Amino acid sequence: MASKSKCVRRVVFNQKGGVGKTSITCNLAAAFAAAGLKTLVVDLDAQGNTSHYLLCEGAIGGRTITDFFESTLSTLKIFGQPLSDCLYQSDFKNLWVIPADARLAELQPKLEARYKVFKLSQALDDLIDNQKFDAVFIDTPPALNFYSMSALMASDRVLVPFDCDAFSAAAVQHVSDIVQEVAMDHRPDLSIEGIVINHFQAQANHHKAAIDAISQHGIPLLKPYLSPSVVMRESHAARVPLVFYKPAHKLSAEFNQLAALSRSVKAKTKQT
Ligand SMILES: Nc1ncnc2c1ncn2[C@@H]1O[C@H](COP(=O)(O)OP(=O)(O)O)[C@@H](O)[C@H]1O
Ligand SMILES: [Mg+2]
Repeated sequence: MASKSKCVRRVVFNQKGGVGKTSITCNLAAAFAAAGLKTLVVDLDAQGNTSHYLLCEGAIGGRTITDFFESTLSTLKIFGQPLSDCLYQSDFKNLWVIPADARLAELQPKLEARYKVFKLSQALDDLIDNQKFDAVFIDTPPALNFYSMSALMASDRVLVPFDCDAFSAAAVQHVSDIVQEVAMDHRPDLSIEGIVINHFQAQANHHKAAIDAISQHGIPLLKPYLSPSVVMRESHAARVPLVFYKPAHKLSAEFNQLAALSRSVKAKTKQT
């Protein structure tokens, strides 16, 4: 018998920059939304690249995730802000965004000092209940800091982008250790869904070698691997997820297959 549907929260995390966290977060979320799932993307990077990619110019007129975190520092209850106050509907059907902004960076030491690392998780529980989201994706900064820890504490599954180079391989091992520790100490259900191979070039021997090396970690390598293409940068510039910008492109097809695979994992876990 199928149990009650559960909103799976995925965090896309690798402390290395430029590996594709933002591109993968936004395009998997867009593919989920296109499949009819009410999908939320939370941007936790002060650079705000996800917010810029998914929301059009001038869309962020009000609060952001920074205001939510700032409100957790107030001891007065009336200043406690629910996450729904910083929720924006994108121009894409079923796709919602909680944006970030540059003020996140200066707020970080205060949040750390006051142990606010569980606040996002608690607030997401309420938001998912109230807004009936089917899926959540969280984009993280290129660092193991307060915000990426908050994201791990708030998630069920981790997707780890890997861009086929040696530094990235070391970073994956580090992510795996951190996830194990968070699962052991705080969130028993947290697990790595898999490694998302990005910029993969089948004809490059060093890519094949890097993938052989990474497969020794015992973490699933999600298929298909993502190809490199300039259309990705073009889609960022156009502020339209690639899966909508060039739906027939090979890289869009790869994202759609990856998303379908992720959703099928969810479907399996729904069986009781
Ligand atoms: N598969 C890809 N092919 C080509 N360019 C890509 C691909 N994935 C990401 N990029 C580009 O690489 C840069 C870094 O990607 P991004 O998603 O911002 O990484 P991160 O969030 O990890 O810093 C961006 O300019 C993005 O457009
Ligand atoms: Mg990014």
